[in-house]
Amino acid sequence: MDMLANALQAADRQAMEKIVGGYPPERRFTLAIMQDLQKHFNYLPKEALKITAAHVDASLAAVFSMATFYKAFSLVPKGRVILRVCDGTACHIKASPVIIDEIYKTLGISPGETTPDGEFSLETVNCLGACALAPVLVADGKVYAKMTPAALRKVIEGYRGAER
Ligand code: FES
Repeated sequence: MDMLANALQAADRQAMEKIVGGYPPERRFTLAIMQDLQKHFNYLPKEALKITAAHVDASLAAVFSMATFYKAFSLVPKGRVILRVCDGTACHIKASPVIIDEIYKTLGISPGETTPDGEFSLETVNCLGACALAPVLVADGKVYAKMTPAALRKVIEGYRGAER
């Protein structure tokens, strides 16, 4: 492993310890700790779960099962921009699979995957309650209505060029 990777790993570990150490060592804070970790890293690294378990004196298995129980947590790294395609009934009828297909053609990712450069993740979600706007895409928390493959490519281009 090169020096940069080592330095990054040390910085990550320091950040984990700081977040976890900011809470009293009690199990009732496990969820709050994990929320902070998820916010910081955009996912829950295994190392962070180990540190959390040791801090609150719980087993890694207990912390791990909590992490998998809540949908808000991810155990794998997610992209900078999360693309959520609604695949509820109305959106499905209005061709959300075509949008999912177009994302695959453009970025090479299927639902649950992240591009190798860490820029985009794709998820499918159930009805967002905006069926009149079907098919709906939510990118980076912003809603895009009545998506077409062409509109989708534009959205992706916009995020590609966007400043970090
Ligand atoms: S099915 Fe997509 S918003 Fe309702």
